[in-house]
Amino acid sequence: MSDEADLIDVEDRFKATLDKFGRTYQTYSLEREINLAPVDDEEGFRLEQQHDLVKDILGDALSDAWPHHGLYPSFVGEPRDVLDCGFGTASWCAEVAEYDPDCLVIGLDIALHLATDFPENCSLEIADLNETITLASSSIDFVHSRFIAGGLSRYRWPGYLSDLFRTLRDGGWIQLMEWDLSFRSNNGEDDKLQALREWTRLYYMALDQSRQPAGKRLTQVTQLEDMLRTARFQNVSTRSIEVPTCGWDSRSKKIGEKNLANMQALIEAVARYPVLSRGLTDPATFEQILSAARAELALESAQPFLRL
Ligand SMILES: C[S@@+](CC[C@H](N)C(=O)[O-])C[C@H]1O[C@@H](n2cnc3c(N)ncnc32)[C@H](O)[C@@H]1O
Repeated sequence: MSDEADLIDVEDRFKATLDKFGRTYQTYSLEREINLAPVDDEEGFRLEQQHDLVKDILGDALSDAWPHHGLYPSFVGEPRDVLDCGFGTASWCAEVAEYDPDCLVIGLDIALHLATDFPENCSLEIADLNETITLASSSIDFVHSRFIAGGLSRYRWPGYLSDLFRTLRDGGWIQLMEWDLSFRSNNGEDDKLQALREWTRLYYMALDQSRQPAGKRLTQVTQLEDMLRTARFQNVSTRSIEVPTCGWDSRSKKIGEKNLANMQALIEAVARYPVLSRGLTDPATFEQILSAARAELALESAQPFLRL
């Protein structure tokens, strides 16, 4: 076999998709329990909207430290070599690369399906972040890792952060961002958010049962600061931002409204396959929970929010 034939074989392996429970997934990921979210246009659209939402949230909450491009804080300076882990639609990669045509942005993801448009100084590669990251040591100025917790196995986080530490040059920075998918009420009306609580329970249980090394545990995202210090990072700080899931807060009405569309789509997209494939509930009950949870996300009287 020539190298070319091998290459085609590898690419096909990553390209194949399958339809399950009404959405389209990457076959390679499902077989190995890597990314259990869909790779269809609907998810691509959601991720693009969520990318814009995050820029609005950060611009609002961190405006002093956050330049107008809204992609990373000012103190990161002008990174030459940038790494984006789990690039998805490549919206972030592409904007960083366009903002500074002299920098090179390397993106790693298990799937290329959602990335449609990116400039030449953006190099996208297939990699499973559960495996050791093989980029050269001290070759990166800035690492960005956003919303990949659903694809990292429980015991991988420390190794993942150590790998990223190794790839960074002295003085380099890392920016991690994850949702804490526990929905809360700002005015003590948590009893009105029962379907959301049930959704979180089912989704966390489904990920926990993953066949991939010991499953995934999303509550780990609240421990990232400790894990970063253990991985030898210095000058570590965490910012937890409360983001409304509808327009109940007049100070951030637009953000709440945008987040409502995002969260109503997210709770379906990320949970459908894991919950139904493990038989944690039947499809009809899952639809009922989803429908009730979507209504609760929009329930202004309960002032629902989650943390970023
Ligand atoms: C929710 S999307 C987020 C995309 C992008 N970071 C953003 O914020 O818009 C998660 C992405 O991470 C990728 N991913 C999840 N687990 C992964 C893993 N173990 N290895 C490589 N990519 C992974 C998925 O394929 C998907 O593109």
